Amino acid sequence: MNNNSHKRKKMLRNNKAEKEELEKLTAQQNNGYLKKYAPTNLLRLAVCLMVFIAGVATGLVSSSQRSTISLENYTKIYTAVRGGDPTNDNNCAFNKQNSNCENINCLRLDNVVHPKKLSHDLSDQELVWRASLVPKVVGYPFKRVPKVAFMFLTRGPLPLLPLWEKYFAGHDGFFSIYVHTQAGFVFDVPPDSVFFGRQVPSKEVSWGDVSLADAEKRLLANALLDFSNERFVLLSESCIPVYDFQTVYKYLTKSAHSFVESYDDTSRFGRGRYDRHMRPNITVEQWRKGAQWFEIRRDLGIEIISDYKYYDLFRKYCHPPCFPDEHYIATYLNIFHAPLNSNRTLTWVDWSLGGPHPTTFVRENITEGFIQNIRNYKKKCLYNFKSTTVCYLFARKFAPSTLEPLLNLSSKVMGF
Ligand SMILES: *[C@@H]1O[C@H](CO)[C@@H](O)[C@H](O)[C@H]1NC(C)=O
Ligand SMILES: *[C@@H]1O[C@H](CO)[C@@H](O)[C@H](O)[C@H]1NC(C)=O
Ligand SMILES: *[C@@H]1O[C@H](CO)[C@@H](O)[C@H](O)[C@H]1NC(C)=O
Ligand SMILES: *[C@@H]1O[C@H](CO)[C@@H](O)[C@H](O)[C@H]1NC(C)=O
Ligand SMILES: *[C@@H]1O[C@H](CO)[C@@H](O)[C@H](O)[C@H]1NC(C)=O
Repeated sequence: MNNNSHKRKKMLRNNKAEKEELEKLTAQQNNGYLKKYAPTNLLRLAVCLMVFIAGVATGLVSSSQRSTISLENYTKIYTAVRGGDPTNDNNCAFNKQNSNCENINCLRLDNVVHPKKLSHDLSDQELVWRASLVPKVVGYPFKRVPKVAFMFLTRGPLPLLPLWEKYFAGHDGFFSIYVHTQAGFVFDVPPDSVFFGRQVPSKEVSWGDVSLADAEKRLLANALLDFSNERFVLLSESCIPVYDFQTVYKYLTKSAHSFVESYDDTSRFGRGRYDRHMRPNITVEQWRKGAQWFEIRRDLGIEIISDYKYYDLFRKYCHPPCFPDEHYIATYLNIFHAPLNSNRTLTWVDWSLGGPHPTTFVRENITEGFIQNIRNYKKKCLYNFKSTTVCYLFARKFAPSTLEPLLNLSSKVMGF
């Protein structure tokens, strides 16, 4: 498998042609598209929700003297989640004279359970706290259609975006998209794209250290804010879907297991990266390795973002050649939720040529047979305890040059 410690360094070096193509795309995506403006109605709803929340927060604070969470905390957190600005006088939370609320239903639950605007200025700690909230009441007071959250962890633009657009077309209401880029990158797409406005507040990521795992947690936490998201898939800019949306949706929402690759590698590339200082809370027998590209169920996602105790051990003791993104989730699930994990990944990748990093496929490699071999895998795997050849729903790594041939054969071979 990916048994090479120089992997990360090499990953940073895209081959030259691919890099140029990416740069061209970045320039294109950064130019010429309109900036997003929130629709007035949505803004009004957000503003009105504030009055309600401020009221609730006041109640909470006054009813508990021991509470260390101040009104400011609530206001800040909810304002940020709703995208409002507490310093703005027009905001009706701070200007009770505002009459925007009269004509619309301020308590519409929809705005709390399905936040539409992703921008906020929460710190990671505030975000995680907010995202870890779990309702105590069993069931939902609204019709909850489980959605799949597609979480793209990218450096910059998504070169294969048109393929994903085609994949998502016609399935509104069954998926949510989240994009985490490098800090400062403006992910600008046309307003009619399903990717429009789907960039989450992103921070600097250094591939190979804990900031990569931090970014995964940040993406997951942002996606958890939407209460209808039930399954969470992590993808990169070089990933493609190999099945149509409906197949993937059914596969994920009906699975008893999450798909996080997790295995015990006794070599220096696995157990060799374990640090004895993690004892006794993480033992070498519990230590696991697996691909970064996970798929996880909502409840497990909440467990993972909420864990600081074990994560801190990785932050302290997992440094190159130990990579937290290859060990943390795999190990954590193995310790606490092993029966809920399939222990395999859904994202196919080619390590067959050996070497430090997997094969990047280019235009010439894209044929019907090639994609078919990924779709119906020669080695079977288990799905809900039954044997199947449908083991991979996604694949990597695909260069930007594969876009055209992939679009050409997607309807015939991949069903979309
Ligand atoms: C609330 O705010 C105070 C001061 O701004 C801060 O010290 C405290 O950590 C915050 N609490 C939470 C739960 O965010
Ligand atoms: C391990 O867990 C124990 C008990 O929960 C705790 O007291 C200790 O600080 C932990 N050790 C480390 C290194 O985190
Ligand atoms: C995944 O592996 C763990 C051991 O690491 C095991 O307990 C669990 O049953 C496995 N999951 C499945 C679905 O076989
Ligand atoms: C992919 O295409 C390149 C360029 O034509 C070729 O060198 C390489 O062998 C191909 N790889 C595979 C796995 O077919
Ligand atoms: C698209 O497919 C058609 C027919 O299958 C083929 O003639 C054409 O060369 C393909 N174009 C690309 C860019 O692959």
